[in-house]
Amino acid sequence: MRSHYCGDIQSSDIGAEVEISGWVHKRRDHGGVIFLDIRDLHGIVQVVFNPESKDTFDLADSCRSEFVINIKGLVRARIEGAINPKMATGEIEIEAQSLIIYSKALTPKFPLDDYQEVNEDVRLKNRFLDLRRPDVNDRLIKRSKITSKIRSVLESNNFHEIETPILTRATPEGARDYLVPSRVHPGEFFALPQSPQLFKQLLMIGGLDKYYQIAKCFRDEDLRADRQPEFTQVDIEASFVTTEDIINLGEDLITSLLAEFTNYEPIEVPRIKYKDAITKYGCDKPDLRIPLELEDISELMKNEEFKVFSGPANDPKARVVALRVPGAAELTRKKIDEYTDFVGKLGAKGLAYIKVVALEEENGLQSPILKFLDQATVNSVTSALKVENGDMIFFGAGNANVVNLSMSSLIKKLADDLDLYVSEWAPCWIVDFPMFERTKENKLTSLHHPFTLPVVTIDELANNPDEALACAYDFVLNGYELGGGSLRVHDPVMQSEIFKILGISSEEADEKFGFLLSALSSGCPPHGGIAFGLDRIVMLLTGTTNIRDVIAFPKTQSASCLLTNAPGEVTLSSTRGVTRAING
Ligand code: AMO
Ligand code: AMP
Repeated sequence: MRSHYCGDIQSSDIGAEVEISGWVHKRRDHGGVIFLDIRDLHGIVQVVFNPESKDTFDLADSCRSEFVINIKGLVRARIEGAINPKMATGEIEIEAQSLIIYSKALTPKFPLDDYQEVNEDVRLKNRFLDLRRPDVNDRLIKRSKITSKIRSVLESNNFHEIETPILTRATPEGARDYLVPSRVHPGEFFALPQSPQLFKQLLMIGGLDKYYQIAKCFRDEDLRADRQPEFTQVDIEASFVTTEDIINLGEDLITSLLAEFTNYEPIEVPRIKYKDAITKYGCDKPDLRIPLELEDISELMKNEEFKVFSGPANDPKARVVALRVPGAAELTRKKIDEYTDFVGKLGAKGLAYIKVVALEEENGLQSPILKFLDQATVNSVTSALKVENGDMIFFGAGNANVVNLSMSSLIKKLADDLDLYVSEWAPCWIVDFPMFERTKENKLTSLHHPFTLPVVTIDELANNPDEALACAYDFVLNGYELGGGSLRVHDPVMQSEIFKILGISSEEADEKFGFLLSALSSGCPPHGGIAFGLDRIVMLLTGTTNIRDVIAFPKTQSASCLLTNAPGEVTLSSTRGVTRAING
């Protein structure tokens, strides 16, 4: 049905007979001559219809936007003055000889020119139209190329792609499960996998040695711009490996994608301890393109009169931090109030600040809080921060989690508002994670998942679980967690101890993870791995911050599909036993 893609026809084809198929992008009528711009995946080409061949001309005249047609014709040079340097095919046009209309189209719900801003809900409801837009289909084509490159890197490292089940048991990754009722086992449910974690470990126990999978994962969790309920992991596991082996492989994989698909200049990827990341950046996924760091000034504030600072400074669960923002003393009162509201929405009780106007002068600092603070303390703060004239210092004080969340978010907001980015690509590894963290109810929960190998012995873990570190690592790029992994527990006694620490009784452990404990007792190689979020990789490599832009049929923020109206109610007649399964 075609000899050429529309966008591929060039001056070297002048004089050739071509056949193209595609969509009518635009139709113009110029003094008795009709021009149709025909579009396919590769681009747009202009076709000219002269009134001499009346039938074809009349058919062209009846064409409207988004009709799907086929044209045979002769490539010719455009006359001078009609050349369009902005168009890849702007030097040529096709003189039509015949036209077939394959399919007519109603007036599209929105114009398909790539510069048109259309409400996202309208785009998602009509995704089949939206997919025709070059910025949308370009990203999906790039996703395919990125996936293909990932496969080639992993296969050249002797990894084998192996599929694992979608109908399975719950795998704990910290989110809620999507459940599927079983018809033949009334009252029982499958869970869709939150990740292939346990199956990939079983593959190692099964001797498969090196596994990977481009794996669909399902998590019923609160969505954000970088999260979908259904997403794809590049899931990797290998036997007889050290942390170093997996980190090197993961780094090779991501840097080879950056090298192929971006202007990335290789750098030595820094490794930052989890604890240091929290102290310096307030989060475990710092955006190292931003040269801003928190300075912990709790010690300095312990004996101050100013309760806003001395209170948290003396509370082990709280902290006081200062953030130096070079050149931001110019910020207006209105802007500072906006930032105060911003951190307030994240739980902060306020946002104290000092403007550094003229350090060398007596009243060279400006701030409503100076009157509450000892001059010597203020001097210690300004010298610890190495401030210069023109800087702004922001302060966060209070519960450590609130300060960390609000101040790390403020860093990102300031970077966007004041354009503080100093590089385009800033990868890093976060290492030395704790095994566990405390929930609001003060219960221990895994920071990664319960199959992560601790650095310590079983006794040390049992005696001091709060302090135990894990052989776990996350890969962070430009402030996004791209991937996470660990070495795994391969000793059933250690695994049982971890379940115990997590408050899982031995009966429950047997019921939920008996198959794993039994496999671990059958000769288990030391093993480890990592999973990268494919959607997030593609998102960053295609320069968007919206994960929905890189998924052909994404779900909305409220986890529904506007196109198919899923999820939907299930009628009794269509369930054929499902309702029986749910009701038992
Ligand atoms: P983790 O839960 O850290 O680890 O997931 C690995 C990576 O998957 C991506 N990701 C998501 N992407 C889009 N939407 C989501 N809802 C979502 N959730 C996670 C992130 C994340 O870094 N089994 C372990 C890996 C291992 O230990 O090998 C796991 O799933 O990029
Ligand atoms: P107040 O005494 O509450 O009026 O606060 C004095 C200054 O300290 C104001 O600029 C507040 O925004 C700021 N502030 C109050 N609470 C906090 C806090 N928890 N962290 C940082 N700054 C605060």
